Amino acid sequence: MSSMNQTILLHEISKLKSKQAQWEPFAWYKEMRENSPVFYDDEQDAWNVFLYDHVKRVLFDHQLFSNKKERSLIPVPRVDNRSNVNFCDPPEHRKRRAILAHAFTPRSLEEWKPRIQAIVDELISDIDSETTVDIVQKLAVSLPVTVIAELLGVPSKDREQIKYWSDILFYPYAKETYDDIAEQKERAMKEFYEYLYPIVLEKRKHPQDDILSDLTKAELEGERLTDEEVVRSGIGLLGAGNETTTMLISNMFYSMLFDQPGIYQELRTDLTSVPKLVEEVLRFRFPVAMDRKVAQDTTVFGHKMKKGQMVIAWVGAANRDESQFAHAEDFDIHRRNNQQHLTFGSGPHFCLGAPLARMEANIALTAFVKRFADIQPVEGFEVTGHLTDSATGQSLKSLPIRLEKA
Ligand code: HEM
Repeated sequence: MSSMNQTILLHEISKLKSKQAQWEPFAWYKEMRENSPVFYDDEQDAWNVFLYDHVKRVLFDHQLFSNKKERSLIPVPRVDNRSNVNFCDPPEHRKRRAILAHAFTPRSLEEWKPRIQAIVDELISDIDSETTVDIVQKLAVSLPVTVIAELLGVPSKDREQIKYWSDILFYPYAKETYDDIAEQKERAMKEFYEYLYPIVLEKRKHPQDDILSDLTKAELEGERLTDEEVVRSGIGLLGAGNETTTMLISNMFYSMLFDQPGIYQELRTDLTSVPKLVEEVLRFRFPVAMDRKVAQDTTVFGHKMKKGQMVIAWVGAANRDESQFAHAEDFDIHRRNNQQHLTFGSGPHFCLGAPLARMEANIALTAFVKRFADIQPVEGFEVTGHLTDSATGQSLKSLPIRLEKA
């Protein structure tokens, strides 16, 4: 394991040892909020914060909590060059982010809307004749990877291969098999790089209407990005936007079936409830944690935090903090402030792809609700057998549902 670029294992920093506990970490979050909201783990030399205000502060206050860090929870092998928008701080960060930002302006999103709608319509028509469907594989996995392939401008026929690389890159480390997993990740990164490189060369010669072409024209401090930087940015976008959006779409269906059974009928009668549901799922069921490095000694949270120590901000716990969200443990699509969840982060690194992720989820759910009269769980469904290992927490690898056509 390289000491310069160390990945922290999620199950070692918390009591969340089992898959089940990682899928439903909410009782542990509550216990920590109530009893040890600022918790120092001496084995990891890491602080853990659980309250809304603290988590938000860690994410937006880059002067105290830096993203220029050696250790991280993110298991993707990283390259710390100019194409890495995440592992840096302002002012450097602002320039790097500006390059990607124009791919995500409201105007670009409007242009993408019909393309996303077409992908959704195709996926929905594929499940139209089924009575039971695995919604994770058929929609939640397929949609984000197809969308990002289309927007980057790589052939969507390659999406299974891309998904395969993306899965390996996000696969969580385990202590016993660390080196083995590290090697698999290096290999996937190399293959992925070699796949994208000639595509980027071609885009530079013959730019098209896609993000990779835009990146070949973008400038940073008066210089064009190199081919390598464009490739790395492309890999970064795919990594950031794929697994996360899959989780959102899977979780939407899980919440409709198990967190508030019957809510589906409310969506059927009022489609304006769709975005409210998407937002509440982001708040309620997204057990993510993010990390930073303490940039200078501080006592902002009432404890002595030392420069160089790691801080883990438990976003999923902040999203259920009663002081921010009344009846935080209830799933309620009508709560007024559910957009204040921290699932997309806060401050300078706020998720660039948030509008895209929201748009994908909303278009998919709207099309689905229009097409199907009802959804039900399959008989005897037990979540444990349907969980995957995921770096960002625990997620569903499958979710069979029964469909009733409109
Ligand atoms: C539900 C889906 C998503 C979730 C929950 C999510 C979550 C996040 C979070 C929490 C951050 C901040 C990380 C930090 O503070 O260190 C972030 C950053 C980022 N996200 Fe997302 N994301 C999602 C979808 C997407 C999509 C679809 C894209 C683009 C294709 C994307 C691109 C990015 C980028 C480029 C950054 C880095 C921004 C920066 O460091 O300035 N994300 N995302």
